Amino acid sequence: SCVPGSNTKLVKPSSTVHKVAWSQNALDGAWRFAEEASIADAAKAHGYQLLKTNANNSDVQQVQDIQNLINDHPDVLLVDPHTEDAEAAQVAAARKACIPVIVVDRDVNEQLASPGRDFATFVGGDFKKEGALAADALIEALGGPSAKATIVELDGTTGSSPAILRGGGFNGELSTKAPGIRIVAEQTADFNRATGQQVMATLIQQYPDIKGVFAHNDEMAIGAITALKAAGKHPGQDIKVVSIDGTKDAVNLVVSGEEYAVVECNPRLGPLVFDTLDKFVKGDDLPAWVVQPDRVFKKADGTAAAYLPNAF
Ligand code: AHR
Repeated sequence: SCVPGSNTKLVKPSSTVHKVAWSQNALDGAWRFAEEASIADAAKAHGYQLLKTNANNSDVQQVQDIQNLINDHPDVLLVDPHTEDAEAAQVAAARKACIPVIVVDRDVNEQLASPGRDFATFVGGDFKKEGALAADALIEALGGPSAKATIVELDGTTGSSPAILRGGGFNGELSTKAPGIRIVAEQTADFNRATGQQVMATLIQQYPDIKGVFAHNDEMAIGAITALKAAGKHPGQDIKVVSIDGTKDAVNLVVSGEEYAVVECNPRLGPLVFDTLDKFVKGDDLPAWVVQPDRVFKKADGTAAAYLPNAF
């Protein structure tokens, strides 16, 4: 049995889960709307009541949201943290309050809150692999491992696990597989389309000879493509763009040839999250990470066109 206030062990859910709390970091684009709908649909299909909050990309707000959700005493708390460090203490606070937690989509810093102790498991995609797959696609687009070119990287939200891991996966793959392709500038555009456009508009003036762009998500890539066209470039011809997510808008650009490839990050996490929760309720031991698999969509092999009807 768990004693609120002093609990130091992993909290297991009771056999009768009714009320599930869901702390979302933002609702600001196709990816987040698809994730939100998937969580809500799956909660309904499993017969759970869902208490929802939206932190609007604010760590301060999300810390407050999680505290409010803890005060509501849900049977289980699901957290999609804005950044790796900021919400970790709240995950540990839920554990101390005897509320079982599953971390969803973005991970917390596991030095600050760890799976198997502070929370049951992390359910989400392999961001590092997504970054490496994006590098493979951009290397291919620029002519293969012996290519010589300069590129820029548009980062996601600073301190978020997708920005940290996609950047690491991309850079590691690029430097080992194609050392002649150099990143001449790296700047955050906060996973946001308008910011991606503004940042790219400045970078293309500073680095007019770049041949490639890696954007940590589709929204920034779409903004970047708009800026490149406004600057007189021809994305798909003189500049190759690669990004991550699988939104309808970006995959349409792959099909039309303006973007080279999109690496999937599947936001439809609801079924995997709630199947995992069911196992947890049954008393099964969970792995530290339940991985949501991802694919790559390109024009040349027909994968982009085949995926498009299912895009979000
Ligand atoms: O955490 C997943 C990332 O967050 C998605 O790539 C992005 O579009 C969203 O903002």
